[in-house]
Amino acid sequence: MPERGLVIAIDGPAASGKGTLARRLAAQFGLPHLDTGLLYRATACALLDDGRALDDIRAAVEAARGLALCDFDEARLRSRELGEASSVVAAIPQVRAALIEAQRSFAARSEGAVLDGRDIGTVICPDAAVKIFVTASAEKRAQRRALELASRGERVDYAHILEDIRRRDERDSGRSSAPLKIADDAVRLDTTDLDIEAAFAAARDIVREKAELA
Ligand code: DC
Repeated sequence: MPERGLVIAIDGPAASGKGTLARRLAAQFGLPHLDTGLLYRATACALLDDGRALDDIRAAVEAARGLALCDFDEARLRSRELGEASSVVAAIPQVRAALIEAQRSFAARSEGAVLDGRDIGTVICPDAAVKIFVTASAEKRAQRRALELASRGERVDYAHILEDIRRRDERDSGRSSAPLKIADDAVRLDTTDLDIEAAFAAARDIVREKAELA
């Protein structure tokens, strides 16, 4: 049984496998899970649907404030188009500020929580008991993303996906507001040469050790 209030922060670049790991850890430890990337994807989706530009700050903040994830189709949110668009709106500091409260209150639930994103361990939950920074080579991440998109029936071109991933890495790491970076007290988990079972076993061991659940 997890300690009451256990918070697990999972960060990492696009397609590193952090989402799958976060979901599996949440199931393993009986915790609710929030994929925070969906908040940025939904903000971008609302803007596009309203015919607004992605750099329209006022409209973007309004969309972020009024967000209800259940109003969006998850398959659409996970599309390649919205992956790219969300990384643009995520670079707007006012959009990030508008989304902080919802993420922190999710993390403050008495039963604890697993959150995954880019700035969970550094900005949203700096006091999380467990922080894991999931990485993998850009090539490996592009292969995984290509398989994932293909399984959902999207047309995929590996070279374009690798290009997308490199561009998003640059944008997510290079922005001034809450850039993607490893927290000082996070454990780095490189999944380049690990399959999902091995990556999950490693992540579970990190949680047990850090949360003293072993
Ligand atoms: O994890 P993802 O690919 O679904 O995230 C989509 C975009 O949202 C990503 O390019 C950067 C942004 N993001 C962020 O800036 N901070 C987070 N905590 C989560 C996602």
